[in-house]
Amino acid sequence: MRNVFGLWARVGQSNTFTWVAGMNEVPVGYLIAYHHELDGRSVMYVGGVGTLPQYRKRGVGTHLMHAVFAEYPQVWLHVRAGNANAIALYQNLGMQQLRRLTNFYSNGDDAIIMATSNMIPG
Ligand SMILES: CC(C)(COP(=O)(O)OP(=O)(O)OC[C@H]1O[C@@H](n2cnc3c(N)ncnc32)[C@H](O)[C@@H]1OP(=O)(O)O)[C@@H](O)C(=O)NCCC(=O)NCCS
Repeated sequence: MRNVFGLWARVGQSNTFTWVAGMNEVPVGYLIAYHHELDGRSVMYVGGVGTLPQYRKRGVGTHLMHAVFAEYPQVWLHVRAGNANAIALYQNLGMQQLRRLTNFYSNGDDAIIMATSNMIPG
């Protein structure tokens, strides 16, 4: 059964926003994003999203991403190339893999840049 949850908080300070998802009085997930201009467009960079392990695979991450899309339809982010769960989440939301950056993270992991299709030049 799908749990019902809502957005507890959306805190904006300057261009940085944080959403917290709550379920049954418990904060279970967060998303941090940064709003900026890119080629004259207003876009959102998602810097982090996470769901508590025991609450994963219930739609919390999807819910948080939809909260961003509702306000900023053009979204991009970096994800570790080996993070299959996160890549699946973003692909299920229609985001596309644009580019791989080798040795991007401090531990040597590669990053993949993903973006909503409306950010990709036709
Ligand atoms: C990546 C992450 C945020 C996903 O969060 P989540 O809350 O589990 O995401 P969702 O539940 O919305 O979707 C994840 C999966 O659950 C599935 N799902 C969603 N609702 C579901 C339900 N009611 N029942 C069963 N599965 C469901 C989705 O289809 C998706 O499945 P898939 O990966 O097999 O395609 C989470 O795994 C996490 O916190 N990972 C550690 C931090 C991290 O890596 N963050 C990303 C950094 S870029």
